[in-house]
Amino acid sequence: TADLFPRQILTGTRVTITAGPTREAIDPVRYISNHSSGKMGYAIAEAARDAGAEVTLISGPVNLPTPERVKRIDVVSAQDMYAASMNALIQTDIFIATAAVADFRVENSHNQKIKKQHNSSGAMTLTLVENPDIVAAVAKHSPKPFTVGFAAETQDVENYARQKIQRKGLDMIVANDVSRTDIGFNSDQNAVTVIWPEGQQPLELASKAQIARDLVTLISAHYKKAR
Ligand code: CTP
Ligand code: CA
Repeated sequence: TADLFPRQILTGTRVTITAGPTREAIDPVRYISNHSSGKMGYAIAEAARDAGAEVTLISGPVNLPTPERVKRIDVVSAQDMYAASMNALIQTDIFIATAAVADFRVENSHNQKIKKQHNSSGAMTLTLVENPDIVAAVAKHSPKPFTVGFAAETQDVENYARQKIQRKGLDMIVANDVSRTDIGFNSDQNAVTVIWPEGQQPLELASKAQIARDLVTLISAHYKKAR
């Protein structure tokens, strides 16, 4: 219960969290994005704040109020989120990447609204290029903050999540089975498996607020052990 949540475990610790989707412009009126609500990241921001941390929330476009006593930096694209994250690094002890970063952006986004080509075949091609991997870049930085990623998978969840720990150089990953029908994109509940190099722990279906508190407790314990 909330009463058991340790209030001061992150006092004096600076936590930076990415949250929400990113938007990749196609032209001035259109974009590529995804269904991320940002709720998990915002819940973690509140839990970390309640644990005494100084929290910076680097947020893509979401429909959520800014948590009290949290510094919120709004960004739109993955490249913006990358720049804001790199800027925040000198003041970050723990970096938690909950954002659903668009993997690709349009190579040359148009300055003017794209017009339908009348008299053409009816097909349209956009060339996409890969966005920078924000959490991997954070984990490569020196000095490196304690770095936590999220992994939304539809199959073979633990295997893919462990591969992501390795590939991105993470200290911990929070794996999410998005094929489960009881937890939708916009849900207020979640169930995850927290994975680190030597172990793992499931967090059963609960409110995102409760999952966030359990995550902050786990992250704090591993962060202190790693220091
Ligand atoms: N992530 C990031 N920057 C990106 C892509 C992902 O920081 N350009 C972070 C996410 O915030 C998350 C973690 O990396 O914490 C895993 O994201 P995910 O989309 O599962 O990983 P990808 O490497 O993009 O692999 P996939 O092909 O499964 O999408
Ligand atoms: Ca991805």
